[in-house]
Amino acid sequence: MRISLPLLALVALALPALSLPALAADTAKLIAEGRRLAEINCAKCHNLETTGESPLTDSPPFREIAKNYDPDELVDGFMDGLAVRHPLMPDWEVTQEQAEALTAFVMSLGPGKRDEETQAARGFDLLQKDCSRCHAIDADSPSPNPKAPPFRDVVAKYDPDALEEALAEGIVTGHNNMPEFAFPPDDVTAIIAYLDTLKSD
Ligand code: HEC
Ligand code: HEC
Repeated sequence: MRISLPLLALVALALPALSLPALAADTAKLIAEGRRLAEINCAKCHNLETTGESPLTDSPPFREIAKNYDPDELVDGFMDGLAVRHPLMPDWEVTQEQAEALTAFVMSLGPGKRDEETQAARGFDLLQKDCSRCHAIDADSPSPNPKAPPFRDVVAKYDPDALEEALAEGIVTGHNNMPEFAFPPDDVTAIIAYLDTLKSD
């Protein structure tokens, strides 16, 4: 046992070393350069951290920007100034490299729009597979099984935490028409992301 452990560790380290760390190092460098640019040019007004408020109240914290744009939109926005034109925002010109660095930094602060869309799409697939033969899972059709409430009503009724817990631990409805199920954490996140899209506010 004592002899085989270090060997195993070596193999595990050696395999990904061929490709992954190189990529990760590039990304880390880009993000670091983005942070440097942001600290010089943006931190006066925008919060650049994962928590906290912006120094200038009207400027969205960068982590909020990460939620509203996907990376391509942001790079384009930085390049042509569209996403950021505002009387209070200084005019500034960036190179393509700087736009990409800033974008990589912004995106490192939170899940981007595209991530959320991917999650929601996966959540939809999961519900379609396991639940849609009884529950309506979209915004307006009736449930195939009239006794099963449409999920748009379920999200309106339960608070998100309760729903998350129920999905992870299984829902006891006291109704034997409903099969038992419990989802692993990744699936719960995806399902919640989809259910969020059903909320009308
Ligand atoms: C002098 C203050 C100031 C500085 C400096 C500043 N911003 Fe802004 N920024 C704002 C304000 C205020 C808004 C909100 C504009 C609005 O809502 O119309 C804004 C909005 C934005 C938006 C759009 C957010 C959205 O949801 O549409 C982006 C992106 C952005 N800023 C990026 C940057 C970047 C990158 C830098 C640094 C290179 C920077 N800003 C520097 C004040 C500033
Ligand atoms: C075979 C049909 C069937 C399937 C499949 C099914 N359900 Fe249900 N479900 C029902 C019925 C019927 C009810 C209503 C039970 C009651 O009122 O006692 C219900 C109730 C629920 C409730 C409680 C709603 C409330 O208002 O209290 C939730 C949450 C729920 N289902 C989630 C799911 C999820 C998530 C799936 C897929 C993983 C799923 N169900 C699959 C039939 C089904």
